[in-house]
Amino acid sequence: MASHFKSDLKWSDVTPERIFLNRRTLIASAAAFGIAGTARAELSYVKSQYSTDEAPNALNEIKGYNNFYEFGTGKEEPSVNAQKLTTDPWSVKVSGLVERPGEYHLEDILSGVTLEERIYRLRCVEAWSMVVPWIGFPLADFLNRVGVAPSAKYVAFETLVRPEEMNGQQYPILDWPYREGLRLDEAMHPLTILATGLYGEEMPKQNGAPIRLVVPWKYGFKSIKSIVGISLTETQPETTWNMQNPHEYGFYSNVNPQVDHPRWSQASERRIGAGLFSGRVETQMFNGYGDQVAALYAGQDLTKDF
Ligand code: MTE
Repeated sequence: MASHFKSDLKWSDVTPERIFLNRRTLIASAAAFGIAGTARAELSYVKSQYSTDEAPNALNEIKGYNNFYEFGTGKEEPSVNAQKLTTDPWSVKVSGLVERPGEYHLEDILSGVTLEERIYRLRCVEAWSMVVPWIGFPLADFLNRVGVAPSAKYVAFETLVRPEEMNGQQYPILDWPYREGLRLDEAMHPLTILATGLYGEEMPKQNGAPIRLVVPWKYGFKSIKSIVGISLTETQPETTWNMQNPHEYGFYSNVNPQVDHPRWSQASERRIGAGLFSGRVETQMFNGYGDQVAALYAGQDLTKDF
């Protein structure tokens, strides 16, 4: 398979002018790194080798068409309802099989971190996709800082529960909190990031402020937003969509055009957006990141481990 990655990517080749201007602003301004609070000035920026060379979606598409059930089930609801969410102060509770458990403030998590821009395709579960220039850093760096115990085999994540600010949580749409999980080797893979911004902006609330996961070779629901809990476990953690409907949503949920969802084909996807990049495109195995991640699943039957 042709690799999606180009380390010598020239932005002018792939980026519409309005976005290019926005990026120049980004490079000029340390305050634009998607960070709340005092950690800003210490952050530096590098362009990731792990970026697709596809053209990113426009900012208004990324911010205006979301799945974030805590703020309603409609795609346009999170952009309105999420603005109520208080994201400062923010902390993440680290627990389970780790050497240094505790409550980590966002500023602590980000101090000393080098943020990278990684342009990934986020492919959502209802067969639509976007290309998003996330700003983030490898989850592995954070896990190494907290110290993973040798017995740990999985990482479990939880989103905030705050029904007074999250209107969707006033209803049993899902079994709150939203939960996700990864096998430890998936969590340690350099493509798996904790993202704190996009397009040089602080993470928009509807996209999972202030800190979310991005796992680009999996369906979008694995990329849990607004994380307040990370736990290292020995057994496979419960995950929201798998609990909701285990026949339709597996634990792994790797993007796989050969394994259909029981209610729809997963062979193609609709790229969100107008113009040149719109329309249906064929879905690629592991969302196009097979060269990087296929080895994680050597020997596994991915029709069973879907
Ligand atoms: N995280 C939480 N906490 N709640 C959610 O409803 N939706 C998931 C994922 N993370 C969701 C979530 C789904 S189904 C998708 S497709 C992506 O977020 C959408 O991310 P985006 O809105 O930034 O494109």
